[in-house]
Amino acid sequence: MHTNTTDLFTGLWLDYLAITPSAKKVHALLQQHDGQATIVNDHIALRTVNLPGLNVASLAQHFTALGYVQSGEYDFASKKLDAWHYQHPDLTLPKVFISELRVNELSSAAQTIIQKMIAQMLPDAVQADDFLYSGTHWQVSSQDYQTLLQESEYAAWLSAWGFRANHFTVSINHLHTFSELTDVNDLLLANDFRLNTAGGIIKGGAEVCLAQSSTMADSMPVAFTDQTIAIPSCFYEFAQRYAMGNGELYQGFVAASADKIFESTNVT
Ligand code: NI
Repeated sequence: MHTNTTDLFTGLWLDYLAITPSAKKVHALLQQHDGQATIVNDHIALRTVNLPGLNVASLAQHFTALGYVQSGEYDFASKKLDAWHYQHPDLTLPKVFISELRVNELSSAAQTIIQKMIAQMLPDAVQADDFLYSGTHWQVSSQDYQTLLQESEYAAWLSAWGFRANHFTVSINHLHTFSELTDVNDLLLANDFRLNTAGGIIKGGAEVCLAQSSTMADSMPVAFTDQTIAIPSCFYEFAQRYAMGNGELYQGFVAASADKIFESTNVT
């Protein structure tokens, strides 16, 4: 495991950019408009399965070892997911949102494919410094990908992309030129970026102390055992946080909004 947050987040970021070319463009566009070299991340998100040694707690060790603390818990029944977020006492560090698929709730066909994938992993893989941006540790056929896709977009994404940041999230609160999410969305639309419209472009709002939007994932080639096909990779998210009654910015997540953000990796 990494011994500092800089190395960990740099590894995650470079891996993410390599398969998310639109994020690099959005990042440059925001830097240009904001007149700042640094774009602050609100959070990153990781996906995994609820299997022993690979569940959220297992992945989270990479963050808790660096001072992160488990915070909110979230339930996404229709997507068969549970999630937790972790945050650091130093709130300038990104929060981490990690979800796990309830493999036991899938069909036996899907469970078999996932078990076959996991069986190809080395026992101590999760302990490696770079595990959280190591991608797949298995080979999967395009047929298996399609079988998973029919049942769970999340499972299919994980089979193709493995362990890596599913998205990074720009903190609107830390931008200088922009203070409203809607203005950032307008800039992105004017520059021909595709935004996720599931549940509306903006998910949430002041009433739940968190407003979010996201691009649709890029389409990137994946080499399956039988053929290479382009499928959705990762997306970029934007979050604006509002003060709660006590005057402090809300630091949690809103399940109803996150439910729609997951759909940013849907095939469109
Ligand atoms: Ni997110």
